[in-house]
Amino acid sequence: MSKKVVAATLLGVFLSIGSAPSMAADADTQAQLDALKAAIPKFAIPMREVGDRFQNIWFAAKDGNWALAAYMSKYMNGSLNPAKLTKPDEYAIWKKFYEEKFANVNDKIMAKDFEGFDAAYTKAIADCNGCHKKMDYGFIKVVKMKTPADIGIDYTVKSEPGDVPK
Ligand code: HEC
Repeated sequence: MSKKVVAATLLGVFLSIGSAPSMAADADTQAQLDALKAAIPKFAIPMREVGDRFQNIWFAAKDGNWALAAYMSKYMNGSLNPAKLTKPDEYAIWKKFYEEKFANVNDKIMAKDFEGFDAAYTKAIADCNGCHKKMDYGFIKVVKMKTPADIGIDYTVKSEPGDVPK
């Protein structure tokens, strides 16, 4: 055997010794990451929270608890954070919805303008349902509830929209 062949053979042995365990570790780490990701909510679970917080916003604004309205909107948006990881393409559509279309609702909350808010909110319901249709969930049609989703909160506490801690 020439020196070159010996060197190449040894190199091959070293590489296989060196890389086999680390490849196994990588595969194991990847499997664990995949399992973690599979356990993180996609859209359906956070959307329940979106639905509830969305309903609450209206009642908070109606009774002048503007901070509660702003708070509900902030965490309505935040509830979809897991989808950044689990459904990045769909999350991008949500982000655009919240930052562009839903901005009208948020602006009216900040302005404590109930009439303007009410109009923007009604429009938002159509936009929510527009995305459901676009994503083949047209059978999920949001309607405005007659009472808030959460009745364990006092909606009549008077507050300013800027009272929500950062
Ligand atoms: C980016 C598109 C998109 C937007 C915008 C959107 N949704 Fe959804 N929503 C979905 C999808 C997709 C589902 C179905 C979830 C699934 O199966 O993955 C859903 C499901 C729901 C559900 C049913 C959840 C359940 O399983 O009980 C409710 C309630 C809901 N959305 C409310 C809203 C409200 C309220 C808004 C507006 C503030 C809104 N959605 C905006 C995409 C969207």
